[in-house]
Amino acid sequence: MRNRVGRIAGTGRYLPARVVTNDALAERLATSDEWIRTRTGIRQRHIAADGEQTSDLALAAAHIALQQAGIAAANLDLIIVATTTPDMIFPSTACILQEKLGAHGGPAFDVQAVCSGFVYALALADRMIASGMARNALVVGAEIYSRILDWNDRGTCVLFGDGAGAVVLVPATEPGILTAHLHADGHYRSILCVPGQVQRGGVVGSPFVHMDGPGVFKFAVKVMAEVAQEALDATGMPSDAIDWLIPHQANIRIMDATTKKLKLPMERLITTVDMHANTSAASIPLALDVAARDGRIRSGQHVMLLGVGGGFTWGSVFLRWT
Ligand code: UT7
Repeated sequence: MRNRVGRIAGTGRYLPARVVTNDALAERLATSDEWIRTRTGIRQRHIAADGEQTSDLALAAAHIALQQAGIAAANLDLIIVATTTPDMIFPSTACILQEKLGAHGGPAFDVQAVCSGFVYALALADRMIASGMARNALVVGAEIYSRILDWNDRGTCVLFGDGAGAVVLVPATEPGILTAHLHADGHYRSILCVPGQVQRGGVVGSPFVHMDGPGVFKFAVKVMAEVAQEALDATGMPSDAIDWLIPHQANIRIMDATTKKLKLPMERLITTVDMHANTSAASIPLALDVAARDGRIRSGQHVMLLGVGGGFTWGSVFLRWT
């Protein structure tokens, strides 16, 4: 018999030990704690150690999620890693993670949808479970953005950080994940990109994040509210049914504006961007893990995850916490 839905059975997160505050950045850049806090809500970011790889961050978060789910790594039959900063060009970070976990045999692959990556990956894993292709899935968002930032560009380097968040998804007869909606529009590809390429032993183009900040801001607010509404329409639920809103943790002003557009009280917005800055594909599972573990998200409540990122890509996953 086919399983109908997936449900989240465990969550985990990992942030590298080194913390860099806004004041520390202001010592070497023309910026200030006040500018960064008021424009973005960010207070600090975590930065990976030199030898640390994206798969190491993913591994630490995965171990915690697996432990909570009570599932041994050997019993995973699907691993998806959402990342824009893989360990290497290939093999995928998911395959490297699989080996580090001591799992083998099931499919393992990366999803590249930049900051929407986790929402894309979770939607895929859910549908693979629903179709019977997988039973126990590990979905991780993991990033080391500090290595693709120009640390002399104050317009971008203050915004990002490193980290990982993971969930374990298992089959269930009761949802779980209620609905998922994914989108992309490549016409906007140049407003947020790393336009470099490895070619003939060197980098051609730029290996750093380039961004039209105000352009990204406007686009993000518009599409996050739209794709949340799409999920509500699909389930026939009013926006008031959203108990917790977890948008991509990029900028507190984008999150506030999205919450207002959805006419939700600000208390329903979960934010962790102050603690770790924008960790791209890791930001949603990081925030989800914080709110699930501190007891805010309770069984039976409805949680709306909203991703938006380079591509441009965007999407929503609406779920009932079990
Ligand atoms: O996953 C998605 C990733 N991207 C984002 O989330 C970015 C979305 N956009 C934003 O978050 C905002 O657009 C920013 C935070 C990037 C910028 O905020 P803003 O209110 O749109 O500021 P702005 O770009 O209009 O820049 C205002 C001023 C400029 O100076 P002038 O031209 O007015 O003299 C910038 O040069 O702020 C200056 N500026 C800074 N000042 C101090 C830019 N970066 C900094 C900085 N410190 N770090």
